[in-house]
Amino acid sequence: MLSVVGARPNFMKIAPIVSELQRRGEEFNSVLVHTGQHYDETMSKIFLDELGVGAPDHMLGVGSGSHAQQTARVMERLEPVLLEISPDIVLVPGDVNSTLAASLTASKLGVPVAHVEAGLRSFDRTMPEETNRLVADAVSELLFIHSPEAISNLRREGIAPEKIHVVGNTMIDTLVAMAPYIDAFDAPGNLGLRSGEYLVVTLHRPALVDGPLLAQAVEALATVARELPVVFPVHPRTRAAMAATAEPTRVPKTLRLLEPIGYVEFLSLVKSSAAVLTDSGGIQEETTFLGIPCFTLRANTERPVTCTVGTNMLLGLDPARITDIPALLNGGHGRRGTVPEGWDGRAAVRIVDVLARIPLPEAQPAVF
Ligand code: UD1
Repeated sequence: MLSVVGARPNFMKIAPIVSELQRRGEEFNSVLVHTGQHYDETMSKIFLDELGVGAPDHMLGVGSGSHAQQTARVMERLEPVLLEISPDIVLVPGDVNSTLAASLTASKLGVPVAHVEAGLRSFDRTMPEETNRLVADAVSELLFIHSPEAISNLRREGIAPEKIHVVGNTMIDTLVAMAPYIDAFDAPGNLGLRSGEYLVVTLHRPALVDGPLLAQAVEALATVARELPVVFPVHPRTRAAMAATAEPTRVPKTLRLLEPIGYVEFLSLVKSSAAVLTDSGGIQEETTFLGIPCFTLRANTERPVTCTVGTNMLLGLDPARITDIPALLNGGHGRRGTVPEGWDGRAAVRIVDVLARIPLPEAQPAVF
């Protein structure tokens, strides 16, 4: 089983699977490849260390670049690794460029692809991740899903039902496994924040940060921070965009801009917050699981279940709405959510059970 990770959210999605494969070491050989899409210590290594995944077996070192460059570099560097190792299955989590590139490379070599977090759709083709999801799902033999609408999304695209496996959410497995460490970490206390009395913010999507909306969002956050302290660990893409265009003019002390932080510290902050404002995908799920109100600064979500049963609310791609957050919280938003089925800490066990019973084809030489 060869798993490919590349960017920050991949690590918590793959960690429980790698750990379960290692636990069942008599049945499985697990190989981990890191493409190097994310390479800063705070964007990559800190997560592998904290989650106990250990050092990847192969580092491809692709780094940053345009979408074509990044995708092409992963494909060029992954292909010889796959030819050397000849895995029975390649596992790819999520929807980042590394997911797309790895699934294409494996599929072209005739290696079955298993996509973890399959079937999510924002129906917004301007999002790079939507193309990545569509392609990864189209070339996958095993589609592991954790969200009820994924089945109809995949069936509509002609994916055979026998390829679809309802397994639950491996990102929540990680949250459950790491709960003791998260509980023991007092991130708000370390930052001088009072439990339940601050807003956590993450913003990094190109649609928001690579244009004029970022400056408006930062101004709106400065306004909110006068009422509700704001803590904002800033993604490198956002930091660069901010330096270029969005340096806030009057930042109150209660708007704290931090460097990116590790998994345990971040979840400790979220768990004791009044609410979270984000444009991330995974954080919409983590807040639903933790019962923390979430506001998503996007026009759509590929995770509608977090709005229909969870604690999430779509604000639209509209920074002016940020200043509504204190009133929405006073009005009770996000207090009553439930947790979707299969978000229970056991998804990786179910995935590995499926992998164990898949009849593998006879090894075929790659045909060029
Ligand atoms: C990527 C994913 C996005 C995911 C996000 C999580 C794609 C298309 N996008 O977006 O789906 O939500 O990761 O973080 O795959 N940079 C650093 N250090 C790093 C990595 C990046 O400084 O370790 C900077 C570089 O300037 C780089 C920029 O961030 O050009 C963007 O990185 P990239 O991996 O291209 O996309 P993300 O915005 O991180």
